Amino acid sequence: MSKNIVVIGAQWGDEGKGKVVDVITPHVDVVVRFSGGNNAGHTVVVGREKYVLHTIPSGILHNGRRCIIGCGVVIDPGSLIEEMESLVQRGVSLDGNLYISKNAHLIMPYHPALDRASEAKLGKRRIGTTGKGVGPAYVDKAARVGIRMADLLDERLFREKLEFNLAQKNRLLRDFYDAETFGVEAILNQYLRYAGWLAPYITDTALLLSKWIESGYSVLFEGAQATMLDIDHGTYPYITSSSTTAGGAVTGTGVPPTKIHGVLGVAKAYSTRVGGGPFPTEMTGKLAETIRARGKEYGATTGRPRRCGWFDGVVLRYAVRINGFDTVALTKLDVLDQCETLKLCTGYRWRGDIITDFPGEETALAELEPVYEDVEGWMTSTAGAKNEADLPAKARRYLERLEELIGVPFCLISTGAQRDETILCEDSPLLRWYPSVRSSIV
Ligand code: IMP
Repeated sequence: MSKNIVVIGAQWGDEGKGKVVDVITPHVDVVVRFSGGNNAGHTVVVGREKYVLHTIPSGILHNGRRCIIGCGVVIDPGSLIEEMESLVQRGVSLDGNLYISKNAHLIMPYHPALDRASEAKLGKRRIGTTGKGVGPAYVDKAARVGIRMADLLDERLFREKLEFNLAQKNRLLRDFYDAETFGVEAILNQYLRYAGWLAPYITDTALLLSKWIESGYSVLFEGAQATMLDIDHGTYPYITSSSTTAGGAVTGTGVPPTKIHGVLGVAKAYSTRVGGGPFPTEMTGKLAETIRARGKEYGATTGRPRRCGWFDGVVLRYAVRINGFDTVALTKLDVLDQCETLKLCTGYRWRGDIITDFPGEETALAELEPVYEDVEGWMTSTAGAKNEADLPAKARRYLERLEELIGVPFCLISTGAQRDETILCEDSPLLRWYPSVRSSIV
């Protein structure tokens, strides 16, 4: 029976979901993005080619895979078209492979402007957004004044909605933020050009998915951002504005929960975070610099240096609980190869107590201190390892301790950027869902 699986980042994003999705994709028929926008940056390395995808599911790199941008995604059409053109130039075929939800909301030119103006106004409480306008686009969606992909195809309605929005946004930009305003005609002309480009791809993707699932196709739901950036379950307000956890796969596509068979979490062997907000296990000084350099921890979308930290078992257990992970793929183990001692966070000390459930409150997050367990490092290369048996005993011990802490089995350990720099764990849910996944790792 075909399996429909959700892949979700377990930490603050950039866990290497792109690679995990890329390994699974040959074994499914359809790949769907369901949340976020071009704030995401999925890096996939295929041979010597490096692809960075922002809105299109990375499944597009596999010939014949059907890719859907679901209704939960917000779309910057200019950025999407650029991505489409660059794929086409590199020989990737989009026709019959890419479908865009007619209900997905558009990122309009005033959204990035509002995003940047709001960040400037917030001062030291700024979120550290990617500046792509994702938050303001979701604001409009929730306020029920958003403009959707289908509206692009109806000039009269598009103009009407644009005029209403500009009357409101220009007032806000000018009077509250002291920022530049926008004119109707320039946006209208630009977006009508985009409409010409995108029209063939815009459709009722919820209906398509329903038909495809009915006929036995298997679907991979590709998460963007991650659990701790979720609008409801993340470290609010230092989060993104969409449902990035497993539930988002349902609301962001129109596929009912009863059609989803499993959830796979992706976590790094350490932690990173871009932007502001609490990060309990954050490293400082030379150690952070070393991990950043070894792990090439710079944002795929903005190029910003990522904050680095130790593995946080509290965050992982929380992610397991919120998403219902059946299994976890652990990435970037090799980045820790030169650490003499590794620290593993097992709980937090807060106001005299030890807590092991992630607290949502800003006050607690600002005050708590991580409780660490020291683990001896392996001090030898694991880069490119393909079998568990190839790993040094101390690395295996680190993995066993992590598994014990988070309470679900690993399905895959990634030891490098290439598809084949991957260890598949025996008897994992991943191999039960897609037994043929073994053939990806040769
Ligand atoms: P926004 O999504 O641009 O509004 O940014 C909100 C927060 O989410 C900021 O801390 C960003 O750095 C973070 N963020 C958004 N997208 C990603 C991502 O793909 N990876 C990691 N962090 C992200």
